[in-house]
Amino acid sequence: MFTEWLNKPEVFGEYNPLHQTSRTEVEKDFEKGTIESKDFLVEKKDGSKIGFICHFTLVHPAGKHLEIGYSLIPNERGKGYGTEAAEIMIDYLFLSEDVMRVQACTDVRNVASQRALEKAGFKKEGTMRKYFFIRGQWRDAVLFSILREEWKEPRILTRASAK
Ligand SMILES: CC(C)(COP(=O)(O)OP(=O)(O)OC[C@H]1O[C@@H](n2cnc3c(N)ncnc32)[C@H](O)[C@@H]1OP(=O)(O)O)[C@@H](O)C(=O)NCCC(=O)NCCS
Repeated sequence: MFTEWLNKPEVFGEYNPLHQTSRTEVEKDFEKGTIESKDFLVEKKDGSKIGFICHFTLVHPAGKHLEIGYSLIPNERGKGYGTEAAEIMIDYLFLSEDVMRVQACTDVRNVASQRALEKAGFKKEGTMRKYFFIRGQWRDAVLFSILREEWKEPRILTRASAK
């Protein structure tokens, strides 16, 4: 299911760079569970799986930065699940990782993603010019972040559940 989502432009969305991924590659990524990247399924209370959210590490000579990304299947968008998934991920990362900030970036045209990030507590930092190559064109992206002092305390998770 996850492999199918990753390869489907309708799920990954119109604002993400597309690339083909095999099931073997996806399974390897899931099993490896490296600190560089980790994917989670977004599941509703009734158990249906409606998308995924991930965190990954960007390596810079001065240090590592944590970033998140997410996608939902089309008919489950606009119902608050994206915002809730981002809130849970932020709780999880600040509770379990020794990080000062978590960032996210999205195509400037992706209003839903920007609004979901803002609702989850992220602040807009600025525009990164020609950051993504999407459908044959270089697109500007907006960088968002949330700092540990802005997060203050878990919104959804408890300290015990994040361990
Ligand atoms: C981006 C995404 C994860 C957001 O999750 P979501 O569940 O759809 O968003 P929410 O329902 O939590 O909505 C968050 C806010 O965005 C607004 N919003 C949702 N869809 C919108 C749209 N198409 N246009 C404008 N605003 C939109 C909502 O109204 C809400 O704001 P409000 O409470 O002030 O009204 C989801 O839309 C998605 O999977 N999109 C395709 C893939 C993608 O773009 N991924 C992100 C790449 S960075």
